[in-house]
Amino acid sequence: KTNNNGVVTWSSPSNIALVKYWGKKEHQIPENPSISFTLDACKTITEVTFETKTNNETFSFEVFLDEKAKPDFHPKIETFFKRIEAYLPFLKDFHFTIKTRNTFPHSSGIASSASGMSALALCLMSIEKELSDANLTEEYFIQKASFLARLGSGSACRSLEGDLVVWGHHPAIKGSSDYFGVKYPYQVHEVFKNYHDTILLVDKGEKQVSSTVGHNLMHGHPFAKQRFKQAVDNITNIKEILKTGNLEAFIALVESEALTLHAMMMTSMPYFILMKPNTLEIINKIWAFRKETGLPICFTLDAGANVHVLYPQKDSEIIYEFIKTQLVGYCQNGHYICDRIGFGAKQL
Ligand code: PMV
Repeated sequence: KTNNNGVVTWSSPSNIALVKYWGKKEHQIPENPSISFTLDACKTITEVTFETKTNNETFSFEVFLDEKAKPDFHPKIETFFKRIEAYLPFLKDFHFTIKTRNTFPHSSGIASSASGMSALALCLMSIEKELSDANLTEEYFIQKASFLARLGSGSACRSLEGDLVVWGHHPAIKGSSDYFGVKYPYQVHEVFKNYHDTILLVDKGEKQVSSTVGHNLMHGHPFAKQRFKQAVDNITNIKEILKTGNLEAFIALVESEALTLHAMMMTSMPYFILMKPNTLEIINKIWAFRKETGLPICFTLDAGANVHVLYPQKDSEIIYEFIKTQLVGYCQNGHYICDRIGFGAKQL
């Protein structure tokens, strides 16, 4: 059917990795498995209108962010469409109007690629569903959408479901795959229910080094092999931690993963540093507070200077008070985002 038209809308969240993905092979295949918390408040809402194409361009689309045309997004989407056209043959037959917005400010230093690419992949899958007569199962739909999202941005394949998602084959995680994210298939200790992530916006500027460049610098990196093995071991270890609720072990694993990610950046050639002085100030304050109170607060980092502060619901009041009074002062313009573990994308 090529004479159809319609509109679909999805909301998809961001995610924060506990065991990090850093380094990839061809076709967006990760060098190691990763696991993330799906977020709740930080999300992208994308509406895609499709109508029969009347021009001769290979791919025909327009993109709007917050109602404003964004021609600077075109190359990224063009690349994405090229990568996925073999899996969605209808792409060439339609003109798409993509309207998107984020619940978090665009210049927040929070990458919108995970939520943005997953929302777009889900919209395209909904269009495929509308156009095809086949009855796509829910499982097929989500798996293929995650597969497509991965081709847009690796970590995007972990944003479709919640509350924990694994991407990358690991022998101890049933159903795990290099090609798409899977919902964590085991029972998780209740201390991880409603886990908090307060995101401290230390630096809201553009990243100096893109994650694409960073991933590529893992090729020929002197510590790459050991790092990929460590990530595999950490997935094995976190499986036990998630079952038993051992927060001391959780904290050690998660903080070590964050610092290892940044250590890989600092030891690549060329080397680079994405942390800022205030990133370190915050980390030191968190460590001092934890030592003093024994409370299970910890941090993780993305490929940037912002700090994700993670803590359980049961201690959230006192820890939030500490964050507001002691840490927010290190944020650019005092800006931060209160988020928590979430449950994945929704069709609107
Ligand atoms: O999805 P990408 O290619 O932007 O890579 C993201 C990598 C990290 O955010 C640093 C780690 C991760 O696993 O999300």
